[in-house]
Amino acid sequence: MLVSVAGGVYLWIVALLAPCSPSREAVEILGTSWYEWSPTTRRHLLAMDAHIAADATPLFVHRTDHAYPWTYEAPVPLEQGTPLWEHVEALSHEFYELELPPEGIAFLCRLFDGGIRPQVVRFLLAALPSQLTRRHPRSEAHNLPIQPVDPPKSAFPLHSDLFRQALLLTVFHRVPAEETGGSTFLTTEALLRVLGEVPAMPASVAARVRVFFEDRDVDYFDQLVDVLYHPRHPWAAEVSRRLLAAQHRTQFAGGEGYVLNDRQWLHGREPQRCRVEPDRLCRIVWDSASTIERTPITLSALG
Ligand SMILES: [Fe+2]
Repeated sequence: MLVSVAGGVYLWIVALLAPCSPSREAVEILGTSWYEWSPTTRRHLLAMDAHIAADATPLFVHRTDHAYPWTYEAPVPLEQGTPLWEHVEALSHEFYELELPPEGIAFLCRLFDGGIRPQVVRFLLAALPSQLTRRHPRSEAHNLPIQPVDPPKSAFPLHSDLFRQALLLTVFHRVPAEETGGSTFLTTEALLRVLGEVPAMPASVAARVRVFFEDRDVDYFDQLVDVLYHPRHPWAAEVSRRLLAAQHRTQFAGGEGYVLNDRQWLHGREPQRCRVEPDRLCRIVWDSASTIERTPITLSALG
């Protein structure tokens, strides 16, 4: 929602988040704005803490017959009408009503400030999917673990996750203090521009990549990674080189993160000197009221 404030300046206001200045000198990435929890969100998170055991850890669950079988769930069943349920329900409404800024991405900071324990944020993201799923007949949400990986394979080149859900929120938690394992970003439009400039890539393949992003009904993640990076493709080396040159990077600390439209933005991870552990971050993918209809997005870079 856009609201006018003094002097004719417009601010993008969402109930879940509130605009803020970054808590450190931040790398500007295409004018990306920084947000923190809104006062309302902060109140709910602080109130939740009284109802969560100090050592509460989300359950790591395997769901049979599910497209994304591994997930985290709340460590205790949330009974409707209890105070904890009410707080998660109110926050699930904020997540469902979230509208991203027009650029489709927001950086987040101070997520663990003011007495908000990381465990409460992890609990929330684990508890949200079951409540978000009830918001709309097509609603689904996932809190998916990241794979532990050793340093030689710790880099994750630019990609989109391409879940059927459009929104991805990542909260960094235990991030090594050393300056490695940075986060990288590139718009999907810039990706398509790069592909159009690689002589070895047939136009038909580049057009197919565009479909991966525009078609909201299929998860094309495996095909995307294959077509961009598999060494059997004669274009792969040059695509990697050009994407590395085009990407933007920043280094998030614990309590920082981002929320983005996964169809508009690619993200990645630079090599990390130590092992990537599952508690490096927590994340949730979901659809808000503005993305639930799965309207095919239109990307213009290939004309
Ligand atoms: Fe990813």
